[in-house]
Amino acid sequence: MIEVRNLTKYYGPVLAVDDLSFSLDKGQIIGFLGPNGAGKTTTIRILTCFMPATRGSATVAGYDVFTQSLEVRRKIGYLPESVPLYMEMRVNEYLKFRGQLRGLDRTTLKKRTGYVLEQCWLGDVATRPIGQLSKGYRQRLGLADALLHDPDVLILDEPTVGLDPTQIRATRELIKELGKRHTILLSSHILPEVEAICHRTIIIAGGRIVASGSPEELRRQICEQSRLIVEFKGSGDAIAAAVRKLPMVQNVETLPSEGAVRLAVMSKSDSREAISLLAIAQHWPILEMRQEVASLEDFFVRVVADQGKKAVLSA
Ligand SMILES: Nc1ncnc2c1ncn2[C@@H]1O[C@H](COP(=O)(O)OP(=O)(O)O)[C@@H](O)[C@H]1O
Ligand SMILES: [Mg+2]
Repeated sequence: MIEVRNLTKYYGPVLAVDDLSFSLDKGQIIGFLGPNGAGKTTTIRILTCFMPATRGSATVAGYDVFTQSLEVRRKIGYLPESVPLYMEMRVNEYLKFRGQLRGLDRTTLKKRTGYVLEQCWLGDVATRPIGQLSKGYRQRLGLADALLHDPDVLILDEPTVGLDPTQIRATRELIKELGKRHTILLSSHILPEVEAICHRTIIIAGGRIVASGSPEELRRQICEQSRLIVEFKGSGDAIAAAVRKLPMVQNVETLPSEGAVRLAVMSKSDSREAISLLAIAQHWPILEMRQEVASLEDFFVRVVADQGKKAVLSA
């Protein structure tokens, strides 16, 4: 549904998006996760035809965002970071106005307005002036507007920013519900949000993809990159040295321990069996062995920090 190939965007000398490639299948909710300044909004603006890329290409539903922007806009509902609304208009007037702008005929417009008012829980404020609405309601009106022409693809830029916890929860529920009928790309700098809503997450930092996958795949990557903590009965450096020699082991750190040898082991692949066999052969009883599972949050912080270091090195 969305294909992005080697997308690159410079603002003057500032490289905001750096050779980004990804694709999004129909019916998926994909999360674009990254710290502020990662390039999320820039990518979204290119996908929604608000500005051209410096290099690379992107298509939505098979249409090129640069050369076929009218078709693309018809396929997309876009909720920008801050929703521009007309404060003196009433909610239903605003939706009517937006629908007319998009060329919806009267019957369709009436039907769709009823539908989006209900879907976005706006029924009870339909005749209220927008200026009187709370931030949460305005956000939902933005979403209702994005949905009005029944687009295949919804692109939501930080949809829960500025909302209170109750509104955040309601908005997430709504997005999940919408995900049953629409393909959704959602950006966020909040990890639990993406984890709760999305089928797949792309983590970006410094305009580049630093990790991607389903929540399970990301967890696996985290496990692979987490340490194995092993405690042996015994003393001396011989144990650490022997573990270090195992073929898959990349790094061994000795942790403080009373009367035992406690190691933190990083390896390319699962080292538990090799360590057990070594311990048996050498008569070093194992007192404890466990995988130290870093949280998705730790992982996020680390991949983002690694990207920062690379950027400094290449500058
Ligand atoms: N209009 C602009 N002119 C110059 N630099 C910009 C502009 N918009 C964004 N940037 C820069 O591009 C980078 C990516 O920004 P943005 O896409 O807004 O990130 P995000 O949405 O992930 O916070 C940042 O370094 C930002 O300062
Ligand atoms: Mg942004």
